[in-house]
Amino acid sequence: MPSATIVGLQWGDEGKGKVLDALAKQVRCVVRYQGGGNAGHTVIVGEEKFVFHHVPTGILYPGVKCVIGNGTVIDVEVLTGELSAARERGVDLSGLVISNRAHVVLPYHRALDDAREQARSKDNKIGTTKRGIGPCYADKASRTGIRVADLYEPDTFAKRLRRNLDEKNAILHHLFGQAPLSYDEIYTRTLAAAESIRPYVGDGGQVARTALDAGAPVLFEGAQGVMLDLDHGTYPYVTSSSASSAGVASGAGVPPAAVGTVLGICKAYTTRVGSGPFPTELLDEQGERLRQLGHEFGATTGRPRRCGWLDLVQLRYACALTGAKRICLTKLDTLGGFGPLKVCVGYERGGQRVNTLPADGAGWDTLTPVYEELPGFDGDELLGATSPEQLPAAALDYVRFIEEQLGVKVSYISTGPQRSALVHMDEGVL
Ligand code: GDP
Ligand code: IMO
Ligand code: MG
Repeated sequence: MPSATIVGLQWGDEGKGKVLDALAKQVRCVVRYQGGGNAGHTVIVGEEKFVFHHVPTGILYPGVKCVIGNGTVIDVEVLTGELSAARERGVDLSGLVISNRAHVVLPYHRALDDAREQARSKDNKIGTTKRGIGPCYADKASRTGIRVADLYEPDTFAKRLRRNLDEKNAILHHLFGQAPLSYDEIYTRTLAAAESIRPYVGDGGQVARTALDAGAPVLFEGAQGVMLDLDHGTYPYVTSSSASSAGVASGAGVPPAAVGTVLGICKAYTTRVGSGPFPTELLDEQGERLRQLGHEFGATTGRPRRCGWLDLVQLRYACALTGAKRICLTKLDTLGGFGPLKVCVGYERGGQRVNTLPADGAGWDTLTPVYEELPGFDGDELLGATSPEQLPAAALDYVRFIEEQLGVKVSYISTGPQRSALVHMDEGVL
């Protein structure tokens, strides 16, 4: 089946949007399979910058079906704003399909997300995006959620909203001392937003399966990254969905074999937003330098990203888990001119080598990264490079080192934020 899955191999913001945009012109259909408005996928074309939160990153290509899958959670008011902004910029939205089975993020989810974060002590904050993601997925699992299809059954919506809001208002009031949210306001605003997205609502899974059955290439768009996966990430400092390639089948409504070639997206160093383990984090001026050089500030919340060296133990785990045999290494240009580069090749605990990732927080705290130092390289020719010949020899050595250590092929190297700044190292994944 000519499909491919794009998955973040680190803690999100690996440059998935940039790579998806570069590949989407080759496909018939792009499906976002999990996450919601917590994602921020950046695409830069010429002078224009787009940041997509819900909308799949193929939307800039007319004729590509772009499905917001059933495994996502949709804030319909935010989505309405995203769609109007895109329309105003001349983006053709006729290919958009919003899955009728996706769950709806409502104001009480955002309020609960915020209240819970505020109530946590400084050391226990997850650092969520406060977009209501966790509470919405919790309702889905509790079977009390409201789905897109329910918005077009006013009586069903009214009944469920009343029941849910009574419960959430009790929690917000009694546990967090907050004023109750207004039923009427949520009802009216949500239905107005629902009306404006109505033309796009449909059976997203059916659209994806039809494309696959026709033998057309399909791209599955992951949000976040493996280390934020609900099951396999650094729990509880994770998001609430299956960000690994395993999320594709259930989140897009396709058979597991449809996952196709898994392309892991990996920054040439590591970043993370929010709290939680990060063994190779640089808390010194080198971390600050990486942040400035890489413009490492969140695309959704604007928060400064934590920065550190590349971590091959973490990446080996991510490749094994996702099935990624091929990767796209992004932001190699950011390391140009940085000086000697450290890469974590193992962890140690009490003088013993550890090659697996711990399941508990205390386990992470006792790990010390083991580094190898590689020569740095010049950045002048690197920015915007489109062919391997333009890359400095030491940059190619850095890439080869990663390939050997991980046992994967670096199929693409991204050399800048622009759509065109991409080096194809082999025949590509589609
Ligand atoms: P995503 O969530 O994985 O799509 O990544 P984000 O869009 O949140 O963050 C990646 C940031 O890096 C964005 O500002 C991109 O424009 C930028 N970017 C992507 N690839 C490259 C690259 O190869 N080099 C540079 N310098 N910037 C890049
Ligand atoms: P993209 O798709 C980076 C992080 C948050 C927080 C944790 C839980 O752009 O790569 P949530 O709001 O999901 O409950 O927050 O997950 N997080 C991301 N970090 N990129 C993202 O998405 C993220 N989405 C969530 O910062 O640590
Ligand atoms: Mg992002």
